[in-house]
Amino acid sequence: MLDTHTINVIKSTVPVLETEGVHITKRFYQTMFEAHPELLNIFNHANQKQGRQQVALANAVYMAALHIDRLEEILPVVKQIAHKHRSLGIRPDQYPIVGKYLLQAIQDVLGEAATPEILDAWAKAYGVIADAFIGIEQEMYQAAEQQPGGWEGFRAFTVQRKERESAVITSFYLVPQDGGELASFEPGQYISVKVHVPGQPYEQIRQYSLSDGPGQPYYRISVKREDGDDVRPAGQVSVYLHEQAQEGDVLYLSAPAGDFQLQRQHGRPVVLISGGVGLTPMMSMLRSLAAEQPQAGITFIHAASNSELHAMRRQVEEIASECPGLSAYYCYSTPTELDRQNAVFHYEGYLQPDWLKEMVPNLNADYYFCGPLPFMQAVNTALDQLEVPVEQRHYEFFGPAASLVAS
Ligand code: HEM
Repeated sequence: MLDTHTINVIKSTVPVLETEGVHITKRFYQTMFEAHPELLNIFNHANQKQGRQQVALANAVYMAALHIDRLEEILPVVKQIAHKHRSLGIRPDQYPIVGKYLLQAIQDVLGEAATPEILDAWAKAYGVIADAFIGIEQEMYQAAEQQPGGWEGFRAFTVQRKERESAVITSFYLVPQDGGELASFEPGQYISVKVHVPGQPYEQIRQYSLSDGPGQPYYRISVKREDGDDVRPAGQVSVYLHEQAQEGDVLYLSAPAGDFQLQRQHGRPVVLISGGVGLTPMMSMLRSLAAEQPQAGITFIHAASNSELHAMRRQVEEIASECPGLSAYYCYSTPTELDRQNAVFHYEGYLQPDWLKEMVPNLNADYYFCGPLPFMQAVNTALDQLEVPVEQRHYEFFGPAASLVAS
């Protein structure tokens, strides 16, 4: 436990962290990767380039500093990060490396303001925070390994089937190469895929939600090909999976992880809202809900640009035909002329609170949402306007956690 003096010193640095946090974490990554280039095998370079990882780490450090004397209050946040770490295979012996370069970065950015007293307090605080992560992650590693069909680290899976779902999304059906049992998972969870794209200097790890229900003899992931544009480079891993990975090839997967899960205990109706490839965890949730409670109220809302980019529609309709409690609605932002003629969508434009209100028969529901950041911000604002309590909102970000409040 930290002594009162150390806690006070840490708390006195909270305002600085608020303003300098991202500079500190930028500097931290730069110096750490220079000294430990092998870590570039586990960090997502695209997230680094966009600065989202720096922001996520800075926020986590800031939150930890703010709650340094009552870390249990931020346990859900710690667990969410620990799930990601467990899925990536982060080890206890890597914590001192991060600690060393984080402290060094605090010193570099703050200059003389970083007194020996402050640095000492941060070294102690980092130790406490790191121990909390290591402890939770060790439990998660054990649970993942001990679960029937579970495993530690990365396991070889064969691509059994590759199936086009839309102009940009393809599903991969993956079976363990060892022919062994497959660990179950909670709908909404993801797996990490490790690939070495030919010609690239480092391995790369990406997380993909499992897009089919549990209990199948395979895991299914559905990957959007990120072609890149003027602002963002193409996604090396997604392009590799789409263009090069073939049926029969081997991919390396870590066991299912993640805390974006159905909260079944409340017994409320469920509303699943997705934008683009954000529908992948929703499909898994939908399959489970339809099997478990086909009569109960489930509203499935999916936003896509148009029918060309609308994945898995037939699967949703098949589920709906056997699930009287399910209503599915589609919202297209740029429908084609044919979409209009065939009336294949229910709303044109971006999702609006009034439309949501019309579609959801009982607003006192549990809402699950996933999609690109602006979409999630819009859904969250709509739920604010409909006065949905925050405890009834559950969401998952693509990539590092970000703010739901649009800046
Ligand atoms: C992801 C915090 C230690 C490697 C993250 C995220 C946070 C975070 C906030 C983003 C989670 C998300 O996706 O939303 C921390 C804190 C640490 C710590 C506070 C120390 C107490 C470590 C260590 C390693 C590590 C020791 C290994 C060298 C990673 C990687 C990711 C990650 C590879 C995924 C980032 C990406 O690829 O985009 N961590 N972390 N972290 N962390 Fe940590």
